[in-house]
Amino acid sequence: MNNPPANFHFHDLQPAAADFRADVIAGLSRARKSLSPKFFYDNRGSQLFDAITRVPEYYPTRTEIGLLQRHGPEMAERLGNDGLLFELGSGSDIKIRVLLNALRPRIYTPIDISHAHLRQAAGAIAEDHPQLEVHAICADYSRPLDLPAALKREQRAAFFPGSSIGNFDPVQARDLLRRIAALLDPGGSLLVGVDLKKDPALLHAAYNDRAGVTAEFNLNLLTRINRELDADFDLAAFRHQAFYNETLGRVEMHLVAATAQRVHINGHSFSFQAGESLHTENSYKFSVEEFQTLAAAAGLASVGVWQDDDALFSIHCLRPAQRPGGHGK
Ligand SMILES: C[S@@+](CC[C@H](N)C(=O)[O-])C[C@H]1O[C@@H](n2cnc3c(N)ncnc32)[C@H](O)[C@@H]1O
Repeated sequence: MNNPPANFHFHDLQPAAADFRADVIAGLSRARKSLSPKFFYDNRGSQLFDAITRVPEYYPTRTEIGLLQRHGPEMAERLGNDGLLFELGSGSDIKIRVLLNALRPRIYTPIDISHAHLRQAAGAIAEDHPQLEVHAICADYSRPLDLPAALKREQRAAFFPGSSIGNFDPVQARDLLRRIAALLDPGGSLLVGVDLKKDPALLHAAYNDRAGVTAEFNLNLLTRINRELDADFDLAAFRHQAFYNETLGRVEMHLVAATAQRVHINGHSFSFQAGESLHTENSYKFSVEEFQTLAAAAGLASVGVWQDDDALFSIHCLRPAQRPGGHGK
């Protein structure tokens, strides 16, 4: 964006590069090597995620957009807010464009960790909606967020699409929902997209697309570590693996070492056995009731739920539950 429009504001609260280094070294030092999926999203990772949303096997994006198109006015009515709308993990902002047709907030605040992608996508929203104040925040939403003062005065609602809540284990997901609830004002609501449990064959196909885009997305994490942390991962020596873990109700993504090898990262050295995996993502799947139970544990009551005819995906409207005799959360 050459000249950002006057209604566009960018708040850079991006985690420091040192945090990435420390998290990668800690993750590779574990007995079972693992990294947070938030590290997928450098600029290339964001582009690859957008490409995933267009492969035929990846049903979540088109299904969630279909729900927003079909039920947007009703969702907007339940969300009931014309002040400030947060979007967590906004990505390329496709979904908010549908919701903005029904909901008319005064301020839109996308929060995303992917700096350049956020700037570009949020800037385009500001250009296309001159009446809307866009305050984009580049930040890690899994950490406590210190809101810019100007935003604290508004009535606040939130949108958390893409089933990103499924990237967190149940305790982390409950805590994140609590933190989101704290961003809302007492009457404010949250709209959250949640992927549903289904035939494992459909899940397997969605995370193992034939064009290999998900594999490229997964492997791009190693490219990013090589570039940003002066590491020497041999990409040809790792393969993408994704499967549904029925016991835990989650799709797991891994990068599996084809041969025994040693990797150097910023002065540290890590060994991989042949067949050893680096666990890169969990994507928990829920029944509607399971998600409502999780939300209740975070103090959020269900005030609406929508799902498609094939029961692939759901969108929930949640509101801080009333305590007996209390007002809101
Ligand atoms: C799975 S994509 C979903 C994108 C879009 N919301 C959608 O539904 O298609 C996850 C998005 O959340 C962002 N993200 C992931 N982890 C994050 C974190 N901890 N804090 C902020 N943004 C994060 C990524 O950059 C990416 O844009």
